[in-house]
Amino acid sequence: MKKIVIPLSDTPVASPGVPVYLISTMSKSGVRNIAPYGMVMPVSYNPPIYAIGSDKDRDTYRNIVETKEFVLNVPSTSMLEKVNVTGIKFPAEIDEFEKAKFTPIAASQVKPPLIVECRSHFECKVLNIYEINKTRVIIIGEVVAISIDRELFLKNFAKQKGQLDPLFYFHGSYFGLGRYVGKR
Ligand SMILES: Cc1cc2nc3c(=O)[nH]c(=O)nc-3n(C[C@H](O)[C@H](O)[C@H](O)COP(=O)(O)O)c2cc1C
Repeated sequence: MKKIVIPLSDTPVASPGVPVYLISTMSKSGVRNIAPYGMVMPVSYNPPIYAIGSDKDRDTYRNIVETKEFVLNVPSTSMLEKVNVTGIKFPAEIDEFEKAKFTPIAASQVKPPLIVECRSHFECKVLNIYEINKTRVIIIGEVVAISIDRELFLKNFAKQKGQLDPLFYFHGSYFGLGRYVGKR
C-alpha cells in the first residue's frame, strides 16, 4: 500500500476519533456548567485516573481550577442535540443544565452534579494540571466515585456497550460505536 504524507492540519483524517464525555463542573459561586470534551483518556485503571486536554478559555477549565472537582458523564448518541447545546460558548454565569435541559442529580463525592440522562459517571478530583503551551493544559483527575444506570451494570461488554451507546467525534462529525469484533 502506498503511504502519503498529509498536512498536520489534517490530523482528524488520520485519527480514529474519540469518545465524547460531558464534563459537569461548578463555579466557585455555584453556577453549574456542562461542556462536551473529546480529549479525555484513561491513564490508569487501578487506581482510575483520567487526563483531559483543555483550552484555557473554557469555563470548564476555570471551574476546575477554582474547585478542583469535575464529573465525566458518558452521553449516548440519542443526546446529540443536547450535547451540541452544551458545546455553545455561553457566558460563565449561565446554568448549562437549564440551557441544554439536562437533569442534575447530586454526585456522591463531589459538588458538581451528575447528568441524569447520561448512563455512566466518573466523579473526579484534580491531581495535577500541566501547562502544554500558552493556551492549552492537561488536567489529571483521580476518579473518586463511579456510578452507572443499574440495568447497565453488566460484564457482557458486547451487550453492555451496545446499550451504553456511546457517542464518538471526528472533528465536526459524530458517530456511534462500531461493531463487536471479538475477544482479547
Ligand atoms: C464533541 C466536542 C468535543 C470537544 N472536545 C474538547 C476538548 O477535548 N477540549 C476542549 O478544550 N474543548 C473541547 N470542545 C470545545 C468545548 O466543548 C466548547 O468550547 C464549549 O463551549 C466549552 O464550554 P465551557 O466554556 O462552558 O467550558 C469540544 C467540543 C465538541 C462539540
